[in-house]
Amino acid sequence: MTTATDTVATPTTTALVHISSLVTNDPSLGEGPLGLIQDAAVVIDGDRIAWVGETSKAPATDNRVDAAGRAAIPGFVDSHSHLVFAGDRTEEFNARMSGRAYSAGGIRTTVAATRAASNNVLNANVARYVVEALHQGTTTLEIKSGYGLTSEDEARALSIAAAHTDEVTFLGAHIVAPEFADDPAAYVDLVTGPMLDMCAPHARWVDVFCERGAFDGDQARAVLTAGKERGLIPRVHANQLSYGPGVQLAVELGAASADHCTHLTDADVDALAQGDTVATLLPGAEFSTRSTYPDARRLLDAGATVALSPDCNPGSSFTSSMPFCIALAVRDMGMTPDEAVWAATAGGARALRRDDVGRIAPGARADLALLDAPSHVHLAYRPGVPLVSAVWRAGTLV
Ligand code: NIG
Ligand code: FE
Repeated sequence: MTTATDTVATPTTTALVHISSLVTNDPSLGEGPLGLIQDAAVVIDGDRIAWVGETSKAPATDNRVDAAGRAAIPGFVDSHSHLVFAGDRTEEFNARMSGRAYSAGGIRTTVAATRAASNNVLNANVARYVVEALHQGTTTLEIKSGYGLTSEDEARALSIAAAHTDEVTFLGAHIVAPEFADDPAAYVDLVTGPMLDMCAPHARWVDVFCERGAFDGDQARAVLTAGKERGLIPRVHANQLSYGPGVQLAVELGAASADHCTHLTDADVDALAQGDTVATLLPGAEFSTRSTYPDARRLLDAGATVALSPDCNPGSSFTSSMPFCIALAVRDMGMTPDEAVWAATAGGARALRRDDVGRIAPGARADLALLDAPSHVHLAYRPGVPLVSAVWRAGTLV
């Protein structure tokens, strides 16, 4: 029975019509791998996509929004961010732009600032960058811990992240905590034991920075295996600054994704092409550390699945902008605009093992970005221009 104080939700349907060019990422709905439809319509029912097709065939709906010749794409799926932090590293960036090299050591600066920050400050920071990303079209966002490096500080980071996303990653093995500088093995024991016991309930994923100056292959294996034993799914910071075992380890352990993939041997490329692990490329990091970009063309030609992410963090890549990464990937990594847009949407969804996002098809979550441009190609063609003009997340215009 309904009383006067009850709110009765009235299901409403909205049709977005006259989309000049729609990327569905569903080849059964339109042309090519992006499933492109010209003069398209999308019907949103509650938080889901109900119908997709040509405007002339769109069913009757409660509301109709005229896209007026603008293009639409699925909301971006960002599978890699480090948003639970305090402070910034402007000085480090300045020094780099005067010639100093990037190293994992800078992470310690952010660890100190993050430990000293209140929950309110950390939460407000996360909220700020989640909204910043959302307005640039990112409707799904993974968030990692990794700037706490004590059991309590890592668990705190994960619960703050969990207030903003379902895609929460435990990265207690970001670097060896400063207190353990003389005894890295004891830090790995802490991470693989008490820290994971406290943190695993708050996370879906376990990550490790497998790199010189962070964790070697054996240590990374111990962390990922301990995470798996507690039900977490691995993802790996792999082969960012140098060649190393990260990619092979990721594939061997069935990681959802190997992230960075900047320095790859032919065997690494083969492993990614043959396995189920997505190669997630983070060109903002190479941009902001003035390094050589990963070779996306080589990975795609070998048959690997590629995702793109801004890797938003205060050290190596302080950008939340997926359009910026698309432009870099097309200009400097050998990707076509179609491949880059796919990698930023469907690729990210693969990296997060999600099939409800990263595509615009009946049943998917109603996440889409309207572009102030006639086609998705303009994301690369007009770099630096804020083309994302409206964003729907779970059926709500944000
Ligand atoms: O993905 N590589 C490790 N972690 C981050 C950088 C973190 C930092 O410099 O604060 C990355 O690039
Ligand atoms: Fe990262």
